[in-house]
Amino acid sequence: MSATVVRGLQPPAQVLVTGASSGVGLAAVRQLLAHSGVTRVFAVSRHASACEALRTLAAQAPLQLVLLDADLTDEKALSALARQLADQTDALHLVFHAAGVLHEGKLQPEKSVLQVNASSLQQVFAINAFAPILLAAAVMPLLGHDQPCVFASLSARVGSIGDNRLGGWYGYRASKAAQNQLLKTFALELVRHNPKACCLLLHPGTVDTPLSQPFQKRVPASQMFTPERAARQLLEIIAQARPHDSGSFLAWDGTAIAW
Ligand SMILES: NC(=O)c1ccc[n+]([C@@H]2O[C@H](COP(=O)([O-])OP(=O)(O)OC[C@H]3O[C@@H](n4cnc5c(N)ncnc54)[C@H](OP(=O)(O)O)[C@@H]3O)[C@@H](O)[C@H]2O)c1
Repeated sequence: MSATVVRGLQPPAQVLVTGASSGVGLAAVRQLLAHSGVTRVFAVSRHASACEALRTLAAQAPLQLVLLDADLTDEKALSALARQLADQTDALHLVFHAAGVLHEGKLQPEKSVLQVNASSLQQVFAINAFAPILLAAAVMPLLGHDQPCVFASLSARVGSIGDNRLGGWYGYRASKAAQNQLLKTFALELVRHNPKACCLLLHPGTVDTPLSQPFQKRVPASQMFTPERAARQLLEIIAQARPHDSGSFLAWDGTAIAW
């Protein structure tokens, strides 16, 4: 991986990763722990402290990795998370927000408008659209310093309205499009508070994780990334990000995606 994850990500860089218990988020935690500039990684998911992979990493690096349990759809849990972070650091240099959902229990992406219902829309919007901006609000006091920092949030190409040619997946598509608008707006505000900051919306490509697992049949092997490769590619984009990139919606290879 590149020598600097974020420009200026020098010790004692403090990093927050959500979605840390699985897929792209877990791979990012591993890579950030191995980075010489990163002093501490706060790893968040609903069940981070019970996740075997995270527990093993924490046992190997007890001072560097902090496991925090938080349901990011719960405002009280977000407030508690903000307090826990503020107790332990006065600055974050990278937020890598990878928590998201496509299917869970009864929640499945819709093939037809006849499958659209209010409770599924609320569930998918709560984590994919509302959680990113509520997280941004919760950590804002830790981003307004005078050093470079990046707030990077995983979106999805299917959230692009301009690129929607296939239809289907109403709730997931719309929740990612809503996330894009909310964080584009945040990106403009963030740089007013910290001119060295940057907020990015990133599409990781199709990645072999529990999220994509039921939908992998038609994806050619050459287009399926491992979580490790996806995390590395995204961290490389983050490393190159500059404040004038704030508010961009970028694919894994750095190309811009239509809104
Ligand atoms: N995989 C792909 O092909 C693909 C493609 C495009 C975009 N993406 C996006 O990339 C991101 C990461 O996806 P992934 O494939 O790595 O997914 P994943 O392996 O299913 O991991 C999702 C993570 O989100 C956490 N999470 C879910 N709901 C949460 C909640 N309410 N509060 C806190 N954490 C929650 C999960 O942990 P807990 O269950 O412990 O809470 C888990 O760590 C998502 O935003 C996804 O939409 C993925």
